[in-house]
Amino acid sequence: MKVCIIGASGKLGKYMVQHALDQGYEVVGVCRERSLDKLDAFKGRITIIPGATNDRAVIKQAVDGCDGVLTVLVPWGNQHYSSGTAQAVLDFAPPGARLIFSCGWHITRDGKDVYPRSLKREEKIIRWLTRIIPFVDLDDQVEACRRIFASNTRWTVVRGSDLEEGETQGLPVWSRHVGDPILASNKTRRVDYALFIVEALRNDALIHEAPAIVGCRTPSALTYAVVP
Ligand SMILES: NC(=O)c1ccc[n+]([C@@H]2O[C@H](COP(=O)([O-])OP(=O)(O)OC[C@H]3O[C@@H](n4cnc5c(N)ncnc54)[C@H](OP(=O)(O)O)[C@@H]3O)[C@@H](O)[C@H]2O)c1
Repeated sequence: MKVCIIGASGKLGKYMVQHALDQGYEVVGVCRERSLDKLDAFKGRITIIPGATNDRAVIKQAVDGCDGVLTVLVPWGNQHYSSGTAQAVLDFAPPGARLIFSCGWHITRDGKDVYPRSLKREEKIIRWLTRIIPFVDLDDQVEACRRIFASNTRWTVVRGSDLEEGETQGLPVWSRHVGDPILASNKTRRVDYALFIVEALRNDALIHEAPAIVGCRTPSALTYAVVP
């Protein structure tokens, strides 16, 4: 399987690269020119295409011939970075490719998510700060996901909880809606978030789903997960 990882040099991206290599996949990574050295550990094992992730020509070249495209959706700046990236992937990924996107719990697909007060507060603060310094554009990530949800590609949008570093604990558990008690711990190891995204490539049950995830060893997951 040939997999393109868009945003490969970030913390999440590097974990995704490692998991994809562990699976024996051929990996093409897209990252900003200034971040190329962050991928030195993978030199000779992956193909790297330098460029902004919302550069349509870069994405067109990177996704060519790929069976899967893993995209780190980030709302940096005020130049429609997220929606530009998502649209380029939707437009240029080969027909039938599995497309997996990352974002946070704050994205809702059907409006049925029930958010903890802490998350609402966090969003309020970020929105207030970005009115003064527009370093991120949360609404653009919302727009990116709206376009993905409306597309007839084989997409999955993986909604991450708060993240932490640490050794893997295994594949996170998920729910369709934030507010489900299984998600209450609101913590996932970044390495396991990446694992969920890479595993989604082979999990057709996740097509057209927007799973909200949480670490499988967190108290809420241990209390509420259904043991087969
Ligand atoms: N952080 C959290 O607690 C959290 C919680 C839930 C969900 N998520 C989701 O997880 C994903 C990854 O988030 P992360 O926090 O772990 O970050 P990350 O993996 O470090 O990813 C950040 C990405 O943004 C790029 N980036 C940084 N500054 C940029 C700029 N000014 N312009 C353009 N690109 C820039 C980085 O590229 P370079 O390597 O080139 O800098 C990297 O690809 C995102 O989709 C996020 O929504 C995060």
